[in-house]
Amino acid sequence: MSHVNVGIIGLGNVGMGALTILAENADQIELKLGFRLNVRAVCSRNVQTKRLPEGLGDVYITSNWREVVTHPEVDIVTELVGGTGVAREMIETAIENKKSVVTANKELMAICGASLWDRAIAAGINLAMEASVCGGIPIHAVLREGISGDRITELYGILNGTSNFILTEIEKRGAAFDEVLAEAQRLGYAEADPSADVDGYDARSKLAILAALAFGEKITPSDIYTEGIRRLSPTDFQYAHRLGHTIRLVCAARQTSQGVILSVRPSLIPLSTILASVQGAYNAVWVRGQYGADTFYYGRGAGSLPTGVAVVSDLMRVAREIRNGSPERVSPFAHERLGEYKPIPVTQQTRAFYIRFRVQDRPGIIAALAGILAAKNISLDAVLQLPCDTKHNLPFVITVEPTSEQSLREALESMSNLDFLLEEPLALPMETAL
Ligand SMILES: NC(=O)c1ccc[n+]([C@@H]2O[C@H](COP(=O)([O-])OP(=O)(O)OC[C@H]3O[C@@H](n4cnc5c(N)ncnc54)[C@H](OP(=O)(O)O)[C@@H]3O)[C@@H](O)[C@H]2O)c1
Repeated sequence: MSHVNVGIIGLGNVGMGALTILAENADQIELKLGFRLNVRAVCSRNVQTKRLPEGLGDVYITSNWREVVTHPEVDIVTELVGGTGVAREMIETAIENKKSVVTANKELMAICGASLWDRAIAAGINLAMEASVCGGIPIHAVLREGISGDRITELYGILNGTSNFILTEIEKRGAAFDEVLAEAQRLGYAEADPSADVDGYDARSKLAILAALAFGEKITPSDIYTEGIRRLSPTDFQYAHRLGHTIRLVCAARQTSQGVILSVRPSLIPLSTILASVQGAYNAVWVRGQYGADTFYYGRGAGSLPTGVAVVSDLMRVAREIRNGSPERVSPFAHERLGEYKPIPVTQQTRAFYIRFRVQDRPGIIAALAGILAAKNISLDAVLQLPCDTKHNLPFVITVEPTSEQSLREALESMSNLDFLLEEPLALPMETAL
């Protein structure tokens, strides 16, 4: 075989990015591989409206994806459509037709990546998904190969660029959440329906995939404790700074003696930590191993060309395997088989917490709150109140010493009837170990 043929389904942001790289960088890619990687077929619903890059050669163009997955000359099918509906059918049909698959689909891979992989092995083909998490950061390759000799104990990530952009803008400009979200939508960083980003669901799918890679467990995204960023305000950043911290949507996975604890939630992190310097739409992953200690990976989490690089690099890896006729496919996970797993509830962990209250000011408030916390064996660390003119709507913060999250939740529940509280207290964990 003098070349390997690729079919691409989906010519949106990522599809056009990958196609541009395959066309413009074809010679470099051939030099690296030692053979040509040809684009043989492309497909998208409105394919007639797409302007394909020059230099692709003889490409079959269609709006019917079945023609790509059954095309006799296509060796690798690239699914860049997204979602869990037709994309799943595309991948399953490609596997049935013994075509290797490259995908960027985090949602689908988080839900059924492991079972698709099992089917792919049975069919003797490969399934590669580097672009599904942190588009421009080759984090799959790191976990699958680069540090696979280590035993991973902790993994922390900033995995959603939109929410990180929103948080860092609130932090820099002191603007309210709604104002910054509207701006992110104008700039094209956030969707018209921003829920997947700001409520943490996108980050949750990515954490499920990374945790499977890191810990070798099948994780159902809905089992991961998830909290979004909608309640955060400039006031929270002022208090966090006063405490030497900032706030990020932190995706965390920790191995404990009982199992892995997983969460996606806004958390206070020390200003001195490298994660705190991840600004705007960038992503980062910090991995801690038992033997190799800490490693850190940073880059663009999305975007047409950075994600396109991940797709093309996967195509090159899979093409090498096809070309070399490897009888065994290398698992996309660091583990050959994933175990069944239910995360340990976050309520079993012990953390220091930041609790922000908004109250109608009057004497005795601190004593009432301290009494409830003490009844749950929770020790106060500090009480902070920045100058504020609005005594009828007064924010202030209590930080507490490391405590079980279960006790903290019970204390917050006991506070729900206090008539001076204007809203439910906002409790954020403080990741002091970072
Ligand atoms: N955008 C990023 O930066 C990024 C980063 C990492 C991962 N991803 C993942 O990459 C995937 C693609 O994302 P994207 O941003 O490129 O999406 P997108 O811009 O919405 O593109 C989706 C493409 O799929 C095509 N399509 C939809 N249904 C189809 C069907 N039934 N048959 C054929 N084509 C169909 C669309 O066709 P038409 O254009 O003709 O309507 C469009 O070209 C998703 O899984 C996403 O999660 C994206």
